[in-house]
Amino acid sequence: MPNRRAVLATIAGVASLALTVSACGGQTSEADSEGGTIGIAMPTRASERWLTDGKSVVEDLQDKGYKTELLYGEDKPATQVAQIEKMIKEGVAALIIAAIDNKALNDVLQKAADAEIPVISYDRLILGTKNVDYYVSFDNEQVGRLQASHIIDKLGLEDGKGPFNIELFAGSPDDNNTKFFFDGAMHLLQPYLDNKQLVVPSGETALEQMTTLRWDGDIAKKRMNKILNESYTSESVDAVLSPYDGISIGILSALKSHGYGSGSEPLPVITGQDAELASVKSIIAGEQSQTIYKDLRQLAEVAATMADDILNGETPQLNNRRAYKNGVKAVPAYLLQPISVDKSNYEYILLGSEYYTEADLK
Ligand code: GAL
Repeated sequence: MPNRRAVLATIAGVASLALTVSACGGQTSEADSEGGTIGIAMPTRASERWLTDGKSVVEDLQDKGYKTELLYGEDKPATQVAQIEKMIKEGVAALIIAAIDNKALNDVLQKAADAEIPVISYDRLILGTKNVDYYVSFDNEQVGRLQASHIIDKLGLEDGKGPFNIELFAGSPDDNNTKFFFDGAMHLLQPYLDNKQLVVPSGETALEQMTTLRWDGDIAKKRMNKILNESYTSESVDAVLSPYDGISIGILSALKSHGYGSGSEPLPVITGQDAELASVKSIIAGEQSQTIYKDLRQLAEVAATMADDILNGETPQLNNRRAYKNGVKAVPAYLLQPISVDKSNYEYILLGSEYYTEADLK
């Protein structure tokens, strides 16, 4: 689906976007436009993936003849609400929103509905409001299943090996995806916890005990340090379920400071998500063991096409009308498929798709 220009620009553009987005977090395109301006609210510039998302959505909309306003909420829900409110006042034709706090947008989306501005929930489902028209994302439960499958394969659990020590991490409690990733992973891991091939020495197996506010790697690092200090005085950790690359990098840092990855103490199997550059390099170096590749260029293209269809009075292409319920309605969705990436296939997947170049991975 993504064109070659978008592919190449995605990679080259990650660094330059950080420079061109202004200090107040905004960027308005200069392109000529017949179709009006589309407002794009993204969560944060602190993670590479959202820079790629923002840039790709802008390019795809400009290709379709729209102007764009791209704003980053810097992980502050109130900032994102204010940004969306501003775009509504400016009279944007549609809104594409990756929520920071999935329940914080009800009031502002009522204003969007009053102004008849269609809303696309991008990657993260917005909850608790009827004023969200469509959802574009990946199959989020499949993400969790792929992470769990990697752990199961690497530890040889299907061959009956074990017991192994595992620790479990989850994403931000205010992100709807967190539960989907967790449920997908636990669906496959639970039988091995039940038969004790997997043991969680920290005892922290409930979702509330393992969430990581705003997906912050430092918070995960602190939790891993605490777990290692308190529950691993005589044992080693064999696997860590991590839902996202930024969290995996934090966990790796805690593990290394406890002597893992040097001498006789190998690093545990550790998963991730987003194929961020630091994590792909870590996989190549034999540290992080896996990530999930989600082609953000495709996600952006689906969102842009959806916005264009809505504004042209057409029904957008959908492939899931039931799975994503937001507490008020099932939001009609288009879901893409995630891919598991490790040392054995990163060249084929990430270079083959031109998501990265060889030079990027040096
Ligand atoms: C989730 C998203 C993940 C990851 C995470 C942290 O909502 O689905 O791919 O990016 O946020 O940014």
